[in-house]
Amino acid sequence: MTARTRTRTRRAPRTGTAVVALLLTVGTTGTVVGSAAAAPAPASAPAAGAFSPRVAALLAEMTLDEKISMVHGGATDPEAVGAAGYLPGVPRLGIPELRLADGPAGVRVAESATALPAPAALASSFDDTLARRFGEVIGRDGRALGVDVLLSPMTNNIRVPVAGRNFETFGEDPLLASRTVGAEVAGIQSQGLIATIKHYAANNQEENRFDVDVQVDEQTLREIELPAFRAAVEAGAGSVMCSYNKVGGTHACENEELLTTILREQWGFEGWVMSDWGATQSTQAITAGLDMEMPRGTYFGEPLKEAILAGEIPEAALDTSVGRILTQVERVGLLDAEPAPRPERDPAGAARVAQEVAEAGAVLLKNDRGALPLAPGTGIAVIGPTAKTPVVTGGGSSRVLPESAAAPVDAIAARAGGNAQVGWSVGEDLEGVLVPAEALGAEPLARVGEDAVPAGEALDRSLTLTAPETGTYTLSLQTTGAGARVSLDGQEVLSTRSQFGAAGGSLIATADGWTNDTHYLELEAGSTHQLTVTGDAGAQDLQARLHWVTPSARERTVQEAAEAARSAGTAVVFAYDEGTEGVDRSSLSLPGTQDELIAAVAAANPNTVVVLNTGAAVTMPWLSSVRAVLETWYPGQEGAEATARLLFGDVSPSGKLSQTFPVSEDVTPVAGDPLRYPGVDGRQEYSEGIHVGYRWYDATGAEPLFPFGHGLSYTDFSYGDLRVKDRDGRVEVAFTVTNTGEHAGAEVPQVYVGPSRRLTQEQAVKSLVGYEKVFLAPGQSRRLSISVDDRWLSSWSADDDTWELGTGRRDVWVGTSSADLALHGTVRVRR
Ligand code: BGC
Repeated sequence: MTARTRTRTRRAPRTGTAVVALLLTVGTTGTVVGSAAAAPAPASAPAAGAFSPRVAALLAEMTLDEKISMVHGGATDPEAVGAAGYLPGVPRLGIPELRLADGPAGVRVAESATALPAPAALASSFDDTLARRFGEVIGRDGRALGVDVLLSPMTNNIRVPVAGRNFETFGEDPLLASRTVGAEVAGIQSQGLIATIKHYAANNQEENRFDVDVQVDEQTLREIELPAFRAAVEAGAGSVMCSYNKVGGTHACENEELLTTILREQWGFEGWVMSDWGATQSTQAITAGLDMEMPRGTYFGEPLKEAILAGEIPEAALDTSVGRILTQVERVGLLDAEPAPRPERDPAGAARVAQEVAEAGAVLLKNDRGALPLAPGTGIAVIGPTAKTPVVTGGGSSRVLPESAAAPVDAIAARAGGNAQVGWSVGEDLEGVLVPAEALGAEPLARVGEDAVPAGEALDRSLTLTAPETGTYTLSLQTTGAGARVSLDGQEVLSTRSQFGAAGGSLIATADGWTNDTHYLELEAGSTHQLTVTGDAGAQDLQARLHWVTPSARERTVQEAAEAARSAGTAVVFAYDEGTEGVDRSSLSLPGTQDELIAAVAAANPNTVVVLNTGAAVTMPWLSSVRAVLETWYPGQEGAEATARLLFGDVSPSGKLSQTFPVSEDVTPVAGDPLRYPGVDGRQEYSEGIHVGYRWYDATGAEPLFPFGHGLSYTDFSYGDLRVKDRDGRVEVAFTVTNTGEHAGAEVPQVYVGPSRRLTQEQAVKSLVGYEKVFLAPGQSRRLSISVDDRWLSSWSADDDTWELGTGRRDVWVGTSSADLALHGTVRVRR
């Protein structure tokens, strides 16, 4: 019996009621985590004697003020390296200053650093060795650029497909995220940079992220959201960042259950907990397990000192927090009399890793009739704005400033060779032209060159826009300097300023390197609208121009792209989205009119290949009319080269989806129930329980567009000779994989296990319990043996507050994706 048939027999019927019943059971089991933060002192607080002799001696020497200065940010960094946080240290005692910088895809400071691919790409490589090297690059860059503590990796699980920061995570599966984060943390810290895992916990969306009250049953929390945090703690992460949201009614940063019971008492975490930026809620939070307030000392500055002096908070609690911080500082050698000098950056070595991850994490979603790899000498029409101005990283605090990033069209032209015709056409114009005087009844807004807004002055212009035709317009604000804002009929629609520093606006700059922000709007011919453009120049001159793309101009660029496609052998369309911190995507569709563009190109030339630069899942209404789709995520600074090598087959794609791609917004684990997402009146219920990601598709029988674990190759692999044993207290899954195709390539065999009848807890139809990435030459076979950790065969018992191993007979499947499992066997788990 094939794995698929097996899986189906366990699925709930498609009709609503059974599914609802299943999910409701989940939603009502278990207790909700959360507790008030009023305990007098953490039960687990180690006495000063619990620290190393050096740390204990320092604690004994430090004054109250000095200790307070260690538990909050806010002092001015004399060197202004552009880190997100700074602590001055205690120079008289040799305690160094500490700089804390983001982030997940590279070090974010004022200078440029290696812009690695998004963590979503790293996770999709299913490659622990690469994850370690990814960490090493960030570790070395961070040390070289003056940083001591990295605010990364982000370890939250993908629960909501439109969540703005999904690109910063390691996907929807706890095992994959655990292995990836464990290896990355080891890599970061091997370079002497302290890693901070974030955002602990249940920070799974941006909508209402500061306050949403997450109601999650304990089993779900333990089995889905927390495993990767635990794995990072086991890998030695020095610091944990607690999140903004509430969990079970209590803000994460004063949630004693999370910060003390689970993190310290159960997992044995010895590092320190810092708050997300502005996530501290009270001074008392120190007694619940929060050690450091960032970025300032609103609660852990003067108020903490006063509370200690008044006897409301024991000084021992402060000593414990400072001791935890110093323990990690000591561990990386920064308390040494002569700490190791900071290394030099290794830009060339780091670029190689960036490229390898971009190549290994790219997922070939579809490839009909061998459309890829591209044949040498083919005429190629390259289409799309991001083929020219690359999408390098996602938005928000993880945005990195690379030294350079090539245009994909140039890399494609270089790889195609001199004889091949490679042309470029914008297709979807994000820049347009100046909104003309006729439409404004006034001078166009073009404060450029000598007309720039001088430093210290403000821009404030009110205009009346009259639409010349009916249809979709793109309004575009383009600036240099501090940025500006545009309101349309009283509503802010564009901003090139950013709460995350200089780089605001869209992820895609203009061709001349200006910051750009675009807004799509439908206008009726003859309608009038009030526009206000405002900005403060600040320390530099501010240049600003207001552009647009009219409906007929848009039609023209689409036609030009279709024409170019028609006369080329292959059309390669680059499409993008813009995932960012601070806001969830408004839908799963590609932004703007990219869907129409792709459809028009595919209609002109069926040999159309789509390259996606999206941070997370998108819908693809045009899928059946294109030949191939390659998801390259936000591929980092070497994305152009990596993409060209993948397209031409210099390397065979080997990435696998670390998240399910839904068919539509209406069929996702959180669709149709506002309590699930985005929450109602600030409260949210994770009522799908453990059925997150592919577990939900399995439980409900809903079909995804592309399943978790899916990813094609230019070669073919076959699977055989499955043997599953429970030997010496471990389940061993052995099988043979063969490269039966004509290209060399890597495959990721995945092992899934079904439920145990002996457990009464809700269980998934199947869960990933092991995988390995193997490289095989054509014709080559490898016998693999995957050893499954009991952890992944266990369920959390909320009644007994412990893990329970699922013994007895269990189904085991092995294959190339969660929905394509060629091998099936069973094992009797005995202990
Ligand atoms: C983000 C964190 C980030 C911090 C510092 C917060 O808004 O949520 O991920 O590390 O800012 O930049």
